Amino acid sequence: MKSSVVVGLQWGDEGKGKLVDQLAQQYDAIVRFNGGGNAGHTVVVGNEKKVFHVLPSAALWRKKLYIGAGVVVDPESLEQELSQNPVNVMVDYRCGLITPFEKWLDKRLEELRGTNAIGTTGRGIGPAYADRMLRVSPRVMDVVYGDFRDLSAVRRLIGGGDGITDEWIEMSRRVLSPIAGDVPGSLLSLYEEGGSILFEGAQGALLDITYGTYPYVTSSNTVASYVGVGAGFPASKIDEVIGVAKLYVTRVGAGPFPTEITGDLSEKIRGKGGEYGSTTGRARRVGWLDMVALKYAISLNEPAKLKLVFTKADVLAGLGDLRAAVAYSVDGKESSNFVDALAGKRVEPVYESFDPIPDVDWESVAKSGWGAAPKQLRNFIDFIQDYLKVEVTEVSIGARRGMSVELRRCAFSS
Ligand code: GDP
Ligand code: IMO
Ligand code: MG
Repeated sequence: MKSSVVVGLQWGDEGKGKLVDQLAQQYDAIVRFNGGGNAGHTVVVGNEKKVFHVLPSAALWRKKLYIGAGVVVDPESLEQELSQNPVNVMVDYRCGLITPFEKWLDKRLEELRGTNAIGTTGRGIGPAYADRMLRVSPRVMDVVYGDFRDLSAVRRLIGGGDGITDEWIEMSRRVLSPIAGDVPGSLLSLYEEGGSILFEGAQGALLDITYGTYPYVTSSNTVASYVGVGAGFPASKIDEVIGVAKLYVTRVGAGPFPTEITGDLSEKIRGKGGEYGSTTGRARRVGWLDMVALKYAISLNEPAKLKLVFTKADVLAGLGDLRAAVAYSVDGKESSNFVDALAGKRVEPVYESFDPIPDVDWESVAKSGWGAAPKQLRNFIDFIQDYLKVEVTEVSIGARRGMSVELRRCAFSS
């Protein structure tokens, strides 16, 4: 009986999908609890690459899969995803649904924002969460039991039509009726019978609607404690949080990014790391690791229960330069508070330089273990661990399943 949560600690795309696929064997059930089809979680097995959007990234294993009520579901794209991955999944009765109206409104709002556009994924996520708050969103149970409670009239007033056509209802009923259920009830029974549960976060802490770089964020909470609401599972029963971060940083879409790199080096990292959105294919912005931001993200994710997994060490290798921000300079004063960046102050990263990591045969590092990793990488991880005072348990060194090394438990130096 164990419950763990995987969360992203940056602006998404940290490699959560790869980790969830790897961890899934140890759990009976895998659960999504936030976001929706805006997520793109990649799993690479051999030469095959799978990208999951609303299905948990454990769909390649024979596990129980759940989509909690904190997720907004687009029945049309769920049908597509299920046709490519014929798995058993339960979708909570209370999930809000994305109709063509929410997708239209997402795009329209972006047009209206003009040069201040957020750069959303266009999947209708913001309007779907907003419509639920406005209490005009149909839920899975409304489709299954056919009671729309006069939503249409109000929805039409908001503009763009209500999106709930007979065809849409028919399609949604076809997709959702066989898989709708009570996720919190099922999870609690499973847990009480001794089952283990892995919760899979989408996006990352800095995209959190409340704590992220608002308004350049997504529209759900992305932190671990949201499991309590988004899956209806008691947050107090969470045993561990596994925070995932890249050894550099990427961001898709607009918004502040203190350690952003432009020019040749950014092209090099983007090319080597394949930094293009898994959902939209957009080029991801890239930057150096930002430990001020990471410290903030950790503070929001049950730090006492949190372990860190870093990804993409192989991409950072061979660049000939290696840096990480250890503080910000704000109006000439040093700060280590990410809230300064959130508040829109002009923050200049204060960098520490590290010995560049040489490119090596990462396959053989994966086979031999952490001791075989280049010492420059091991020193870099030691520094990060001491700075953040959080244990790093694993470093990912390639996209494929198995390309990771576990670290021995090690004490912090202070
Ligand atoms: P997620 O949204 O957090 O699941 O991350 P994405 O799947 O959107 O993006 C991560 C990308 O990096 C995917 O293409 C992964 O296959 C890839 N990836 C994950 N870990 C590693 C790694 O350690 N090295 C390399 N080179 N690629 C990785
Ligand atoms: P995963 O789970 C990276 C970003 C979008 C945009 C902002 C708002 O793969 O890490 P939205 O469509 O949610 O209203 O867009 O959030 N965004 C992501 N960026 N990874 C994601 O998910 C993202 N989901 C949303 O690019 O900047
Ligand atoms: Mg992604």
